[in-house]
Amino acid sequence: MKFFIDTANVNEIREANELGVIAGVTTNPSLIAKEGRDFIEIVKEITAIVDGPISVEVISTEHEGMIKEAKELANIHENIVIKIPMTVEGLKAVKVLSKEGIKTNVTLIFSATQALLAARAGATYVSPFVGRLDDISTDGMSLISQIVQIFKNYGIKTEIIVASVRNPVHVLEAAKLGADIATVPYKVIMQMVKHPLTDIGIEKFMKDWESAKMKI
Ligand code: E4P
Repeated sequence: MKFFIDTANVNEIREANELGVIAGVTTNPSLIAKEGRDFIEIVKEITAIVDGPISVEVISTEHEGMIKEAKELANIHENIVIKIPMTVEGLKAVKVLSKEGIKTNVTLIFSATQALLAARAGATYVSPFVGRLDDISTDGMSLISQIVQIFKNYGIKTEIIVASVRNPVHVLEAAKLGADIATVPYKVIMQMVKHPLTDIGIEKFMKDWESAKMKI
């Protein structure tokens, strides 16, 4: 399973990219708004940091507007992937964009049949949101399991991005199910790095080294 980072904060992206584990970036209008600065400037900065797919979402709600926005965004950099919401209009836009060779990531997926429709419309990626399902007492991971199975049944090449990841257990479960990608907030990446036994182990190695007065 590959990792994308789910943020529009360039400092977080830069830091995580240095770890060598980030294969791409996902943003959304809420994450961009949080940064409080020019949208296109942020997108350009991200493309200069990460050499991989960078999802940027359209704001229009009808397909003509989505297609127009998508073409403008895709012109910024070859790594831009257009995030399109899972709606009737969104599917129409995905159909046109995929025929034109523009990559799409269909977002706000909450059922396996939505994922199947998006794949059939030509989506490069689908983004099922596990955390938001968990928030309403529905098992987000069972959605991932269903989509993985359906895509496998029919040899569908659309990649599954597990989104709305809230903790390392989401990442673990997504990997066990064979999802292609998890898009993970910076905080969760750092939680995954940490283990108390690693810290205790380092501390003990240092103490033993010191007490033996070893010299390099
Ligand atoms: C995915 O592409 C979305 O940007 C994101 O994962 C949404 O996460 P949230 O439900 O924590 O807002």
